[in-house]
Amino acid sequence: MLVSVKEMMQKAKAGKYAVGQFNINNLEWTKAVLTTAQENNSPVILGVSEGAGKYMGGYKTVVGMVNGMIEELGITVPVALHLDHGSYEHAIKCIEAGFSSVMFDGSHYGIDENIEKTKEIIALANSKGISVEAEVGSIGGEEDGVVGAGEVADPAECKRIADLGVDILAAGIGNIHGKYPENWAGLNFDVLAEIQETTSPMPLVLHGGTGIPEDMIRKAISLGVCKINVNTECQLSFSAATRKYFEEGKDLVGKGFDPRKVLAPGFEAIKATVKEKMELFGSVNKA
Ligand code: 13P
Repeated sequence: MLVSVKEMMQKAKAGKYAVGQFNINNLEWTKAVLTTAQENNSPVILGVSEGAGKYMGGYKTVVGMVNGMIEELGITVPVALHLDHGSYEHAIKCIEAGFSSVMFDGSHYGIDENIEKTKEIIALANSKGISVEAEVGSIGGEEDGVVGAGEVADPAECKRIADLGVDILAAGIGNIHGKYPENWAGLNFDVLAEIQETTSPMPLVLHGGTGIPEDMIRKAISLGVCKINVNTECQLSFSAATRKYFEEGKDLVGKGFDPRKVLAPGFEAIKATVKEKMELFGSVNKA
């Protein structure tokens, strides 16, 4: 059964570790993340962007696939199915479709409108036991066509959103989606510490997990980050392994063209990346 992130986050906060949100794109991705979580006895959050939801055939299809896998693959670790960077309309759609958690990203609105809309989503979600992530200060880079400017959030605005009763809060601290540029200045830990101080004990979310150096990840966790989002890194692992399969001509040998064979190296590559992140985030054996 799917669970909200509420309890997962409280445990992570108390235990000083973070739970990974791994974005899913298809059946192989979902199976790779779920089985790796089970093998490592780790709680896990499956992230679904609006674009990925549409790609997979709609939110209800995703809910059916994930619930089916949890049951048929014997997944017993806590699993949350979470909308990533949702608009107001899509947050409502996911609440109705059976997601256990939603992110309403109102960071592109002015703070007052962000507050109003976040409040409405919280009321609706909480009536069904669904957790809510809100965002202040847009995360930079491009994800699914949504381009963020990479702001550093205002701790006072974070406090206003936190006080609405959100379960987890994402705040821009110089992090961006996708690969980090060579000249990236790194995470702004002063702002992170200030945000945590004003919103404590709110569990914080670190977006743009791909490519953040390990020491910065550990420091972010020590300052109150309980959820770390990873998307691009699994895509890179998947595509490198798939490329190798074709470059080695394996699709031309025997039944190597069978999609189950073609996708197997990419599947294993996602699993390896997810395991590595779970170890780094400290969530192994925390289910
Ligand atoms: P990356 O693609 O940089 O790992 O970011 C993922 C993310 O933050 C999803 O919301």
